[in-house]
Amino acid sequence: MTESTPNHLPELAAKLNSPIIIGGKTIPNRLWLAPMAGLTHSAFRQVLAHYGSCGLAFTEMCSAKAVPTENPRVSSVFKWHEWELPSLVCQLVGATPEELVIAAKRVEHEGFFGVDINMGCSARGMIKRKAGAALLKTPEKAVAIVEAVRKAVSIPVFVKFRTGWSKEIEPAVALAKNFEAAGADCLVFHPRVAPDKRTRPPFIDHIRFIKEAVSIPVFGNGNVTTPQHCQDMLERTGCDGVSIGRMAMAQPWLFAQWTTGFTPDKDIFKDYIIRLATALEQDFDPIRAIKRFRLLMAYFAANFRFGHSLLATFSRAKTMDDVRLLAEEYIKPDMQLSQTPNMNLYNL
Ligand SMILES: Cc1cc2nc3c(=O)[nH]c(=O)nc-3n(C[C@H](O)[C@H](O)[C@H](O)COP(=O)(O)O)c2cc1C
Repeated sequence: MTESTPNHLPELAAKLNSPIIIGGKTIPNRLWLAPMAGLTHSAFRQVLAHYGSCGLAFTEMCSAKAVPTENPRVSSVFKWHEWELPSLVCQLVGATPEELVIAAKRVEHEGFFGVDINMGCSARGMIKRKAGAALLKTPEKAVAIVEAVRKAVSIPVFVKFRTGWSKEIEPAVALAKNFEAAGADCLVFHPRVAPDKRTRPPFIDHIRFIKEAVSIPVFGNGNVTTPQHCQDMLERTGCDGVSIGRMAMAQPWLFAQWTTGFTPDKDIFKDYIIRLATALEQDFDPIRAIKRFRLLMAYFAANFRFGHSLLATFSRAKTMDDVRLLAEEYIKPDMQLSQTPNMNLYNL
């Protein structure tokens, strides 16, 4: 994130810009937005679309139990803009084939590009419900879910999963093969064990084991914050593309920067926050809007050397008008960027 870091590597851009076919549908590039609860909501995605060049975006996880009866006008999670459906995948989290099938049918009916099954979330509540990463403890059930969803819908089926509950990669490799046999169209692999909440670095080379085990596309994910990291992940693992989580919150223009050479001007940080405030205001009631703003602000603040004080300043904001005023006053073009994201904020 320093001035001297080359933010556009032509070789990387060429690789990322080659279209990829998933389940018979073409996606223009191989740099995608990872699903993140509370963060990859419709308002953030609107800002992301403004900066452009994200090949495929994923919603935050939506409860499979809730989706069949959710009203997108009221729901804060199962919510989207009509124009984004051709490049938006809805992520579902659930515990049984039955609940996931009904939810996946609704996702298809609404017109999403595809459906993604969450087998990575290790939040306590999710594990208690036997959903998310808990499914990696019961591989037969995990595969039965993929098989059932595959039979129920004709849109592309994605699975996002982790290494599992121990650091050996063999169970994840076996699962990957079974997901492919069950009809998954694409795997997104995050090479961390389930109880690890991003405190240790991901084991990037494990992505290669998954890639080599299957013939469907495999995307890698985890700790990619620079074009160099992205290139390194692609080269070391042979994966077909990369999915970006937290760094997309810090700098949503990175998709354009890494794939097209777009050069942001120094006002882009302020521009981002003001756009975000407007989008949050349009999509959410004032209380939900400010909650979501606060969640995202930690990743934004991680851009800066004095991110903690910026975060403290913005924590005073109670409305989107406050956010805009603070942005005008405190987000300056000459703010010192942190060389790498400030991990105390980035790992919150
Ligand atoms: C706040 C937060 C919420 C997340 N929510 C989800 C989620 O809903 N579904 C999911 O599959 N992964 C979720 N993740 C994991 C991310 O998709 C991604 O795998 C992880 O952040 C590592 O990628 P990164 O280093 O690029 O951020 C979440 C991560 C964070 C930080």
